[in-house]
Amino acid sequence: MLHTSVLVLFASAFTSLFSTTWNHSHPFPPLPRGMVFALTGMIFALVIYAHPESPTDEGSRASSRPRPISRYWGFYPTLTVLYFIQLMLVYNGDDEVRYHPIDMLMYNAKERHDDWLKWASSSTSVETAAANYTARYNRHPPPHFDEWYSYATSHESLIIDDYDSIYEDLLPYWSLSPTEIRHRTWEAIVDPSKNVGGIFIRSGKAQIAPNVPRNQRGMLDGIVEMIDKFGQWLPDMDLAFNLNNECRVAVPYEAMETIRADAKSAWGTEKKPSELVNDFTTDRAAGWESLPQEPQPSDHFITLSSRSTWDEFGSISCPPNSPARTQWLWNHKNYCASCALPHSLGAFFANWTVAADICHQPDLAHLHGFYTSPNTFIGTHRLLPIFSQSKAPGFNDILYPSAWNYQHRAPYNPTDTHPDPPYANKLPTLFWRGASSEGFAAADSTAWKGMVRQRLVALLSNASTASQQPLPLPQPIAHGKRKLRYTPAPPTSIPVTPDVLFADIARCAGTTCALEEAAFAFPATEHTEFQDHWRHRYLLDADGAGFSGRFLAFVASGSLPLKVAPLFREWWHGRVTPWLHFVPLDARLQGVWPTVAYFAGFNGTVGGVGVETKGREKEGERIAGEGREWVGRVVRGVDMEVYLFRLLLEWGRVTDDAREGVGFVAPVPLPVPEVGKEEGGGEA
Ligand SMILES: *[C@@H]1O[C@H](CO)[C@@H](O)[C@H](O)[C@H]1NC(C)=O
Ligand SMILES: *[C@@H]1O[C@H](CO)[C@@H](O)[C@H](O)[C@H]1NC(C)=O
Ligand SMILES: *[C@@H]1O[C@H](CO)[C@@H](O)[C@H](O)[C@H]1NC(C)=O
Repeated sequence: MLHTSVLVLFASAFTSLFSTTWNHSHPFPPLPRGMVFALTGMIFALVIYAHPESPTDEGSRASSRPRPISRYWGFYPTLTVLYFIQLMLVYNGDDEVRYHPIDMLMYNAKERHDDWLKWASSSTSVETAAANYTARYNRHPPPHFDEWYSYATSHESLIIDDYDSIYEDLLPYWSLSPTEIRHRTWEAIVDPSKNVGGIFIRSGKAQIAPNVPRNQRGMLDGIVEMIDKFGQWLPDMDLAFNLNNECRVAVPYEAMETIRADAKSAWGTEKKPSELVNDFTTDRAAGWESLPQEPQPSDHFITLSSRSTWDEFGSISCPPNSPARTQWLWNHKNYCASCALPHSLGAFFANWTVAADICHQPDLAHLHGFYTSPNTFIGTHRLLPIFSQSKAPGFNDILYPSAWNYQHRAPYNPTDTHPDPPYANKLPTLFWRGASSEGFAAADSTAWKGMVRQRLVALLSNASTASQQPLPLPQPIAHGKRKLRYTPAPPTSIPVTPDVLFADIARCAGTTCALEEAAFAFPATEHTEFQDHWRHRYLLDADGAGFSGRFLAFVASGSLPLKVAPLFREWWHGRVTPWLHFVPLDARLQGVWPTVAYFAGFNGTVGGVGVETKGREKEGERIAGEGREWVGRVVRGVDMEVYLFRLLLEWGRVTDDAREGVGFVAPVPLPVPEVGKEEGGGEA
């Protein structure tokens, strides 16, 4: 009984978070109200839990059996009445917020980042770094951790302790024996038609596998260049690199459950510290199978180019009863509020961690080229150890720093002719140029209409005809209070010029190309230099087929970067914080205009009444500045080397036949003599 009532209250409080329906007059339920529900519900539940007995029952306390809640007649009804009163007080049906949600998001982001940084970079010596490693990951660091530490510190790497993404990426592979991992590496690279390229490390030198086609070597050259910086500390091994933009490895949820359990127990077996050797097994080269003279077909891959990958690869990592796998009849033309709400605060993108869980987002099946119709998709359900530059949620690829960024292929590099003016002097434009390369617009397919880039261009290329957008604006009749209300308003009254166009209609076939060209009034623009971006105050980065080639350059600039639909995760995603270093936008694009209105302001007529809000230029400039400063400290070329070095030491360990017995144990530090103690005083 007691537990039932607690559960009921929890459940009712919780459903209030998700129960608000989407309608036109009340489009974005402000989350704080939902949170007030949840919190009060929880407080009540706690009260019940803490006071199951009334004071008159002192005498019976000795009896160990809790008495049924129904005995306390007055208590439960009173509680119910109170709960409903607060419900009415809080949920009075309007949709006002007292402060702008973005203010709260920015404040939270700063706090979180400061907390995170403390624990991401606290170690000050190899001993404390090793101790921190063991405390975090429950195991000793891999061999040559001391060399990694001195490499990292000599290059002034700020991040020493937080490499959780490496741990998470590699953990499943611990379920396989080293022999099996080596064999699967061979399976991944044996067939060049599957676009996975091998890199062999022998005696500290990296080289590209002979079967990689000449035109695909450019990217691998960059990786070789990176590895050679620290290759002397790596064991002999073969690595399989994804040559496509799209990620590759998605193990079904059910199989993954077993893999996780096996992996955890394998990770947990380590020899005693005194038996650990700080080096890899010698003679490892022989353990890797050599490639055959003739290419050999590999039948572990499934090709789904230009077709939906959602069921077979997108949602397959989700629990069978999750919306992503059950709501297959979703009407994708409507906005799905329940899909966005868990990671949103009103109209705004709020939680990157929750957004990375696609299991509550069945509508994404229709809203991203990667899911609707990828250009090249050669995936596998087998846990093949493939290193990728980025991956979608649920995929098991191993992330590594992109050679594209390492080799500065699209650098931030302003010049006299293409300067980066101060924030206030930039053009008030919302700028994007790119190709329709996110997915493939097949003939007779309408999948392109759901792709992020196409929807973005459609939303922003013709603002004058865009319909009214719900923007959080001050109420026209404010009774002395400056409350905000989501009000349908014309985006043309936001003092921003959208300049969002396709530079190229690519990856299309048949009549679809003509349809796209007509829809996007293509060609509408002349070629723009990449270095020309910095003139514009607001720079959009929209997801393409994989990792973003330009986002880091945008963050490094003095303009404000707005990242749309950040579906793909890259190696740096744990260290760059949304709302502190850049502005995130939901894949559904419902937040684009409200977000732009926050930074740029609003000056127009709503319902016949003039409304004006000042743009938050200071805040925009601050994010632009924080991002720029931060990527200059933790996403530099050497930070990529430091990340890859540590990743490959870990990979060297998991592929080592003696993996239980190799690892770095810090020498026991000499006890520090205590100041003030007489005996200690003389020693030194
Ligand atoms: C991590 O490093 C910091 C700084 O050296 C130290 O204060 C802290 O105790 C370490 N944590 C662990 C668990 O060793
Ligand atoms: C995102 O949500 C998760 C899970 O609810 C929570 O632990 C985390 O603190 C949230 N992060 C932010 C930035 O709000
Ligand atoms: C903008 O809208 C007008 C009127 O609907 C239309 O004629 C024009 O082609 C549109 N332009 C673009 C770039 O979509």
